[in-house]
Amino acid sequence: MTAALSPAGTDSFETAEIAGLRFPRRRLISGVPALERLGNISSRPDTADIYVKRDDMTGLGLGGNKVRKLEFYTGHALSLGCDTLIITGAVQSNYVRVTAAAARAAGLDCHIQLEDRVAGMDDGYRTGGNVLLDRMFGATLHYLPAEASEADADVQLDAIADGLRAEGRNPYVIHLGASFEPRGALGYILAAREILGQIADLNAKVARVVLASGSGQTHSGFLTGLRLWGSDLPVTGVCVRRDAVQQNARITQVCGNLGRLIGRPDLVGPDDIVVTDDYLGPGYGKNSPETWDALLTAARMEGLLLDPVYTSKSFAGALAMAADPATRDAGAVLYLHTGGLPALFAYEAAIGQAMADADAADPKPA
Ligand SMILES: Cc1ncc(COP(=O)(O)O)c(C=O)c1O
Repeated sequence: MTAALSPAGTDSFETAEIAGLRFPRRRLISGVPALERLGNISSRPDTADIYVKRDDMTGLGLGGNKVRKLEFYTGHALSLGCDTLIITGAVQSNYVRVTAAAARAAGLDCHIQLEDRVAGMDDGYRTGGNVLLDRMFGATLHYLPAEASEADADVQLDAIADGLRAEGRNPYVIHLGASFEPRGALGYILAAREILGQIADLNAKVARVVLASGSGQTHSGFLTGLRLWGSDLPVTGVCVRRDAVQQNARITQVCGNLGRLIGRPDLVGPDDIVVTDDYLGPGYGKNSPETWDALLTAARMEGLLLDPVYTSKSFAGALAMAADPATRDAGAVLYLHTGGLPALFAYEAAIGQAMADADAADPKPA
């Protein structure tokens, strides 16, 4: 009897070449997420085509943009012989949920710190959606109070790491602050190459890219990747957490750090960095009528799910840019869907209210 071939060990990693350098990478993505045209929305009068890159479908642990980032953090952790991933994020963070899943896939332990960033939410927000999944992945949860700053969050992460070291563990910390090495953004440098290939295969005339801009690694990685692979496509980052001035400074800093990490600080200039806070609404984790409308438009016209925290805002931006008379004739909008769908189940009451408001404003014929 021959022994069945065993899969690669959970701790295996490879390296990816970017700009002539090699970076450890632990494969986590299932296949190549589709790039597809939103047929019904694009057929409305006076709008450019919208193509959506389905990075909500990256697979691991219900997917999203964080899987691409975690490929490089997990690979790095494995290459250093670490045994535990540590990360911080808002209570309904997708990042911590995917980190918990990535740790399990790679045979590592995971500690996550949940930050109280959205006031006035119900119990479903605190225990459902991503939090349920964090617990299912068996992560150890820590909590950070509402008044703590972003810098405090990183200080606390380091304290958790020190505690684990004292117990003989070897933790790998994924910090939040923009001054830390943006290794996760390497995933979006590779994604940019993948998407340029898909645009060429579809023969699509894309004029601009729209994506959610939070920590800034997706935005910075994608922009850097486009320039590295020879594309001058403009990218608009839709602010989900900070105003446009703060976010512009953050993207500038992250692009600078990323350029140094890959030895190409020349790729992204100030004119490449475009952000808008027109769709930020009342702030992080809170929606405006326009962003609820974007979420329901995607669901009701395309059967496409968006999340309340990130993609309802970025898609509101994509819809507005596709309809803008000043730019719509230039070509299609490529919308990067970054996922976040488990949070839908933590916003049940708010989504119910948004649907009731939409139905009251536009009643169905009897
Ligand atoms: C669903 C989703 N979209 C977009 C973002 C923003 O990505 P980044 O933090 O890389 O800017 C996040 C970050 O948490 C996210 O969870």
